[in-house]
Amino acid sequence: MWALRQFSMLPESYHDASQFATLPRMLAYASGLTSDLPLNAPPRCTHVRPKPSLKMRLLCLASVIGLVGTSISQPTNASSYFTSESPVAKAGLLANIGPNGAKSSGAKAGIVIASPNTVNPDYLFSWVRDSSLVFKVIADQFSRGEDDSLRGQIDNFFAAESALQQVSNPSGAVNTGGLGEPKFNIDGSAFTGPGVALSEVYGPALRSTALITYANWLLDHGNTTFVTNTMWPVIQLDLDYVATYWNQSTFDLWEETFSSSFFTTAVQHRALREGAALAAQIGHTPSSKRYNAQAGNILCFLQTYWNPAEGYITANTGGGRSGKDSNTILASIHTWDINAGCDAITFQPCSDRHCPISRFTSTPFAPFTPSTRASDVTSAVAVGRYPEDKYYNGNPWYLSTFAVAEQLYDALLTWEFAGAINVTSTSLDFFRQFESSIGTGTYPSDSSQYSKLISAIKPFADGFVEIAAKYTPSAGGLAEQFDKSTGQPLSAADLTWSYASVMTAASAYAGITPASWGAEGLIVPSKCVPPPQVSVTFNVNATTFFGENIFLAGSVDALNDWSPNNAIHMNPAKYPIWSINVTLPAKAGIQYKYLRKYLDDVTWESDPNRVVITPGSGDVTLDDTWR
Ligand code: NOJ
Ligand code: NOJ
Repeated sequence: MWALRQFSMLPESYHDASQFATLPRMLAYASGLTSDLPLNAPPRCTHVRPKPSLKMRLLCLASVIGLVGTSISQPTNASSYFTSESPVAKAGLLANIGPNGAKSSGAKAGIVIASPNTVNPDYLFSWVRDSSLVFKVIADQFSRGEDDSLRGQIDNFFAAESALQQVSNPSGAVNTGGLGEPKFNIDGSAFTGPGVALSEVYGPALRSTALITYANWLLDHGNTTFVTNTMWPVIQLDLDYVATYWNQSTFDLWEETFSSSFFTTAVQHRALREGAALAAQIGHTPSSKRYNAQAGNILCFLQTYWNPAEGYITANTGGGRSGKDSNTILASIHTWDINAGCDAITFQPCSDRHCPISRFTSTPFAPFTPSTRASDVTSAVAVGRYPEDKYYNGNPWYLSTFAVAEQLYDALLTWEFAGAINVTSTSLDFFRQFESSIGTGTYPSDSSQYSKLISAIKPFADGFVEIAAKYTPSAGGLAEQFDKSTGQPLSAADLTWSYASVMTAASAYAGITPASWGAEGLIVPSKCVPPPQVSVTFNVNATTFFGENIFLAGSVDALNDWSPNNAIHMNPAKYPIWSINVTLPAKAGIQYKYLRKYLDDVTWESDPNRVVITPGSGDVTLDDTWR
């Protein structure tokens, strides 16, 4: 019942998934109702660089949303927007942190609220993801010496998160999965209501990345004891969790798809690499070795998201969606390491794997149709999460729009640092949009082609900021989304993560390079540990007419992503039992249905979708009856 209640109260999509605390919760939900379950889809050499010449800038993207709307504030350019918005964003962000934040009354010290909004949607909770991304910004500002007053906030955050680690919650206790819990009450207690735990395998990764930034600063400033005795045990819990569970299916960062997700894998890889370096530095050699070994396996797995045939990064392995998702853009800005150049295996912001804009021409939201691409692609658009987004009917998000600008700024900085732009066959189309005569090759920074590209891509990047600026209310408050038709702010007001996203974009715009995390010179191990799979036998008792056949389709690649045309033909050898054996990802929640086909007629079973939760190993047999 709770699921139904919550479902009818909330806008579509993201909250659907919030029903699933645990696998049993998922099952309860799945059998309880809906046809559209969201299960488908799953250094410290900080150097402040000189302000980039006006000629700098970047790159490529995904899931871009066109926007028709009215201006709700004065048009502005990127430079003046960052000047006026940065202090507003920082104040807005700090207002959402307990115990003294102006908009976060009731929040414990160091607890970040996602937004003060309590209805439509209720975001007055603390998400580990949002909080960690927010504290990465704070730790970066502090460790660069930009604002010494932030240290107390970081100490509070450390204390609050160490306590949260120990809070038993619907995902488990500290050593039994509880670290995967994405969301807590703002007083630091477990959230046990509906719409809870989703078991995410990257909250701890993002959190350890934020904490390691601070730990590295402390080590640089002689405070080894605090790092070794107090911080390390906390960081280690998170890193051990990542090293143990990285290859489990998990909810994605939007809390919607239960599969593997590019963002998750990319941030796990980063966390283990910098964790390994920290462990080595403070004498924890076995941990260091283990993290590096697992990071190698993760790096292997990361490569599987690249879809060479289609020429883009498939953001989610789960079915039902194109896999084009701004989670790839967010991943690139949160794993940028300028020392790695335009490295493709770690998917750096200027890597050619982020370039194939032309592949996004066929999605309903993308304004880049083949016929308009040549003229339109060089002007920015408002960016949403992914083309199929239904949450509040699918709109641009401030944080996705700023992320594209930031990715481009990161790329511009990297090209400048490397002293060249390398155009490959993969990125050729992207660069041709800015300079139609360009061919593949390396263009050094003193070449005319380099200058032309830079001077076209810089304003392209700024354009994304200017669009978000245009839809920023004059007081500077940032909600989660802005309405795709009216441009009005939508969903949660004062979203802490939106503020953080302006701050990181502004830093990149100003030419500030975050500390390296060790992405340079990595190689993909020659032997990759394959993601675990299990064998599942589907049997369905279905009486058919002559000429009619039974097929199987579902929410993962192996079940052809719900495609009726490519559904798997089942074997009627034991009619009326139709059977098929399929290899599926282990430990995953997978939706499926049977369908019958007669000539061109396709009939799906009735709703809701069926769900199988696969085990970690072994065989599974499902005996179903046609519905
Ligand atoms: C296609 C089918 O129309 C429907 O019956 C099925 O449940 C969905 N895809 C998946 O949610
Ligand atoms: C919904 C977003 O999809 C998710 O990523 C975020 O953590 C929560 N809102 C809270 O901001």
